[in-house]
Amino acid sequence: MAAGRRCEVKTMATYVGTANPGFAPYAMEELRRRIPGTEISGLASGETFRFTSGSREPVELVKELRRDEPVFLRHLFPLETETPLTDSREDAEAALSAYARSLDGRVHGRKVAVQVRKAMNSPFPFSSAEARDIAAAVLRELGAEPVVKEADLIVSVYAAAGSLLLGCSDPRDNLSDWPGGAVRFRREEGLLSRAAFKLLEAERAFKLPLDRFTNALDLGAAPGGWTSVLLDRGLKVTAVDPAELDPSLSGHPRLHHLRSNAAEVSFAPGSFDLLVCDMSWDPHRTCRIVSGLSSALSAGGSGIITLKLMYRKPLQTLRELTEEYAEAFDIRKVKQLFHNREEVTMWVRRKP
Ligand SMILES: C[S@@+](CC[C@H](N)C(=O)[O-])C[C@H]1O[C@@H](n2cnc3c(N)ncnc32)[C@H](O)[C@@H]1O
Repeated sequence: MAAGRRCEVKTMATYVGTANPGFAPYAMEELRRRIPGTEISGLASGETFRFTSGSREPVELVKELRRDEPVFLRHLFPLETETPLTDSREDAEAALSAYARSLDGRVHGRKVAVQVRKAMNSPFPFSSAEARDIAAAVLRELGAEPVVKEADLIVSVYAAAGSLLLGCSDPRDNLSDWPGGAVRFRREEGLLSRAAFKLLEAERAFKLPLDRFTNALDLGAAPGGWTSVLLDRGLKVTAVDPAELDPSLSGHPRLHHLRSNAAEVSFAPGSFDLLVCDMSWDPHRTCRIVSGLSSALSAGGSGIITLKLMYRKPLQTLRELTEEYAEAFDIRKVKQLFHNREEVTMWVRRKP
């Protein structure tokens, strides 16, 4: 090399990304806008895809994706090995074992979770549990402690139609420590609706412990899933919905139900430190209602709001909605949660 000339080694990484069913095109578009030169291609229609770090330095790119999470990218893992896949059990076992063995030196003394997912059209001949056991046995030989939760490292296995994709990473770099970001809650005693999972997931995704609040306003509360989670966490709740709440909530000493349209209620300034809203309504109208009630939140109080994506252009709808909400609120995070369907969830703070 000529004196003074620096040898620049460009590294490029490839990742497997996952979004909610049908939303991969939007996750891919978000990444395209953020990562110059990224190459993106689908793996399982509408849900899983691969993308490269393009001209971005991989470590910096992952740090940025963690710091400022894309709305629709639910999970990613770095693709370190890809092997062709048939329905041969011997070949699949050899591929899993060989990859696990290649982690010698990285996994010794560490808690390692193996997460296995399989595309619908994959010939992969093992169940997730069988594949996990094959990899875990090798990892144990290498001095790792196979675990299910609270791992230091996650080995991700994705069986696609024609190949097995494998990688190993720090759980934080995957955006979620659940396989593919599919957060599963145990059906808690007394959980009133599936919608309650959205609030439980938002609490984790936004790192916003609900028991930190004391007085909540729940707009569009019926049948009462979110309200019951808030009551369980010890909050006082004012629930607004023309519809009935579940009878199990009636007479609760910390619950006040206003059987009204949320557009027609008003409260003294600073009455609440938490506003939650899961109204099934046009999202722009919901925004006007919620923004009109922003003074009922104490300064710095938080809002957790479901944004319905009822139009054909989710990215444009989101841009418009975040601009509208930004007039009354500081927008902290917008994320499509695993439990969101045609919607995303937003965390805001009332402007001081
Ligand atoms: C998806 S459900 C809410 C589920 C609730 N978060 C739970 O966990 O049980 C939507 C609710 O919004 C209510 N809603 C729609 N428009 C409303 C409005 N303008 N004011 C108050 N509630 C409204 C509906 O009556 C419906 O009960």
